[in-house]
Amino acid sequence: MNILVIGSGGREHALCWKIKQSPKTADLYCMPGNGGTSEYAVNCDVDILDNDAIKNFCKEKKIDLVVVGPEVPLSRGITDVLETEGIRVCGPSYAASRLESSKIFAKELMGRYNIPTAGFRIFETADKAEAYLREIGTPVVIKADGLAAGKGVIVAKTVPEAMKAAKEILEDKVFGSAGNKIIIEECLEGEEVSILVMSDGKNIISLASSQDHKRIYDGDKGPNTGGMGAYSPAPVVDKKLFNEINKTIIRPIIDGLAEEGTPYKGVLYAGVMITDLGVKVLEFNVRFGDPETQAILPRLKTDLVELLMATASGDISGIRLKWDKRDCVAVVLASGGYPGKYEKARQITGIDDAEKEGVVVFHAGTMVQDGTLLTSGGRVLSVAGMGLGIKKALEHAYAGVDRIHFEGMTYRRDIAHRAVERLG
Ligand code: AMP
Ligand code: GLY
Repeated sequence: MNILVIGSGGREHALCWKIKQSPKTADLYCMPGNGGTSEYAVNCDVDILDNDAIKNFCKEKKIDLVVVGPEVPLSRGITDVLETEGIRVCGPSYAASRLESSKIFAKELMGRYNIPTAGFRIFETADKAEAYLREIGTPVVIKADGLAAGKGVIVAKTVPEAMKAAKEILEDKVFGSAGNKIIIEECLEGEEVSILVMSDGKNIISLASSQDHKRIYDGDKGPNTGGMGAYSPAPVVDKKLFNEINKTIIRPIIDGLAEEGTPYKGVLYAGVMITDLGVKVLEFNVRFGDPETQAILPRLKTDLVELLMATASGDISGIRLKWDKRDCVAVVLASGGYPGKYEKARQITGIDDAEKEGVVVFHAGTMVQDGTLLTSGGRVLSVAGMGLGIKKALEHAYAGVDRIHFEGMTYRRDIAHRAVERLG
């Protein structure tokens, strides 16, 4: 079948890499793709925010299945548009994708189905937000209601810091209309995990657990990023915790959405905090995680196309997933200065040598110019290494990292530190 992957990050490269391995795949396209996806897919220069252009592309190329990487096209109803044309899409409808595109929608839904999450209040004006902040104090979390490219969450340690965030969002509109409302939320403490599942609207299949590293510096210091590395599985999610997450979070959210007439079809990503009072939802994402996907897909033995197509067709009941016994660690290599300002167009060398170490290198912010591979974004590559046990996986991943070079290259040296500490 002909398949289109929408997006241009490491996640989409990993999806293309895995989809290309399936005997079911005929033509594979990536929209717009990056310097690495072109190895497996035809990159196509179509605006991923233009639903009509995507629709016309799919009709022209006789696309059978569309896999949507990022949240923005989903929040603009690409699934609904394509399904009206009879094109299968692995990704939720506009209505169900509000789980990510409106934090208030997600909070209220969780409230209706008693799903554990941080306590919160909604505010539309900075004055009222300020009065409330003075009353409750810090630490506290300020969240823009809408999509803000991963920047709309501020964990504030002081009241002035919290007020500044509330003002910038509500008054200065730093995130545009995504900040017409904010949530002020209780700050949770604990260990964070990413739980990814597939659902056809009714049935649920768990993908592997994983853990991301959001901060730029080792020891979880510095500003938040899109994610600096991930590993899978996360040993903190043992059988008991896995069952608790399914019972208290995943099952009720899928059933709740179905009950409300907006069934959820696609990948659901629950960002969960393991607190002393049990697991609580930090956020839902309506898509594969990045870089979690780069640490999960190398472990998946099942044909990914079968899973994606079954999800898109609305029946995953016949699917059983098989996993590699090895752990996988994906280390993100970023441009110097990220997540702030950074230089672009720096030459990247050493990927072939890294691959000789047995790692898979997924591209994100890369481009090919006159035959030379250059950096073109904040997160540039992720290097995925596998091994029996987390330590072996780490050795492989970092042996690959050591071979790669570009000016300003920045990465964390402590990916999977929690698993290493836990397992001793
Ligand atoms: P989100 O975009 O909602 O995932 O938030 C980004 C990051 O902010 C999360 O991965 C957490 O590290 C942090 N965060 C979000 N909500 C809370 C909360 N209520 N308490 C503590 N940290 C949070
Ligand atoms: N790894 C965080 C995310 O995909 O949103």
